[in-house]
Amino acid sequence: MMKRIHCLNGVSKCGTALLTEDYILTDDIKEAEGVLVRSASMHELELPDGLLAVARAGAGVNNIPLDECAAKGIVVFNTPGANANGVKELVIAGLMMASRDIVGGIRWCQDNKEDENIAKSAEKAKKDFAGCEIRGKKLGVIGLGAIGTEVANACSSLGMEVYGYDPFISINAAWKLSRNIKHITSVDTIFQECDYITLHLPLIDSTKGMVNKSVLDHTKDGVVILNFARDVLVNEDDMAEALQSGKVKKYVTDFPNPKSVHMEGAIVIPHLGASTEESEDNCAVMAVEEIMDYIDNGNIRNSVNFPSCDMGVCKAASRIAVLHLNIPNMIGQITGTLAAGDVNISDMTNKSREKYAYTLLDLETVPDEGSIQKLKDIKGVLRVRVVR
Ligand SMILES: NC(=O)c1ccc[n+]([C@@H]2O[C@H](COP(=O)([O-])OP(=O)(O)OC[C@H]3O[C@@H](n4cnc5c(N)ncnc54)[C@H](O)[C@@H]3O)[C@@H](O)[C@H]2O)c1
Repeated sequence: MMKRIHCLNGVSKCGTALLTEDYILTDDIKEAEGVLVRSASMHELELPDGLLAVARAGAGVNNIPLDECAAKGIVVFNTPGANANGVKELVIAGLMMASRDIVGGIRWCQDNKEDENIAKSAEKAKKDFAGCEIRGKKLGVIGLGAIGTEVANACSSLGMEVYGYDPFISINAAWKLSRNIKHITSVDTIFQECDYITLHLPLIDSTKGMVNKSVLDHTKDGVVILNFARDVLVNEDDMAEALQSGKVKKYVTDFPNPKSVHMEGAIVIPHLGASTEESEDNCAVMAVEEIMDYIDNGNIRNSVNFPSCDMGVCKAASRIAVLHLNIPNMIGQITGTLAAGDVNISDMTNKSREKYAYTLLDLETVPDEGSIQKLKDIKGVLRVRVVR
């Protein structure tokens, strides 16, 4: 039977082109097993019973009702890191714009476009827009995930002395990090010693307002702060004051809001970090690969509401996927039910994540309908699926 995918938003064709011949796109979400979405809100949607998975082509998932999906046994995926290169390149543009008055210079050319002798006038005017180079300057990168590691490595290649701070760095990110990056264990060192500081960490309660008066008072005079992560990581009243006093030379932010756009000395960009064709293509490719691997094989990669689980491609007679609550005795009841139906398990994985868990089982024989129904009847089971 064909598997149906509904696109709630236009998703890059690079992604949908990867759908194999077992898949078709449908305009009707009610008959879809998978949904691909970018920024459309799903909060008001009625989630169809047959829906197995939602893949968000992007990182943020606040347009998707995660708990409601989990409770109905719908796995939600996102595509972390797919836009990292796009953001990195804009951070480098931000470093350049903060170092030389490129924006002021462009504005001057526009303002003087009727001047017949603009070439000559420019030679006089240009001293007002001169600046410094980034080579040899100290850059502090706070948060060394998908974006932070790319920024750190690229800036090191551009000749900057790069300090990296991330108390929770993943093994993967650590492997990717150039060994020229200086490992810093206290964020205060970054604030006190760096000429440029760039934020690449998530917004959570403990990071909200982390760039505030008390840290800005201890930075180098004329420091440049770049924020391509989330606006409220920075206390913007304190930032406005630091810009006015000259303590901060430039604040480059990808987040326009009524405060940031009025700050003198701020370079405000309209959230363009991931706005590249390539980022959108990468997100769509990753979203489609994740949704197909889940529907075809039961594997979960980059889910935001269920645990990761990978048993590769099924080579056994049958594979059963059970999404359930993370409560005691679920594995015992699932395996017991299969054993009672005379079904032998050849391989299995059980993973949990907060309230929810996932059990994937490869079986030596195909279980009958009665055994599947008994699995569905176990209290705490959210969905049972015969993957193969
Ligand atoms: N401007 C844009 O268009 C755009 C696009 C994508 C992502 N973002 C934002 O960029 C940020 C980073 O994204 P990412 O894809 O690199 O995420 P990521 O999850 O790959 O990396 C985040 C890193 O921050 C680290 N971290 C967590 N708490 C920390 C703390 N207190 N101090 C230092 N490090 C800490 C984590 O260990 C992780 O390594 C996010 O806030 C995301 O919302 C912005």
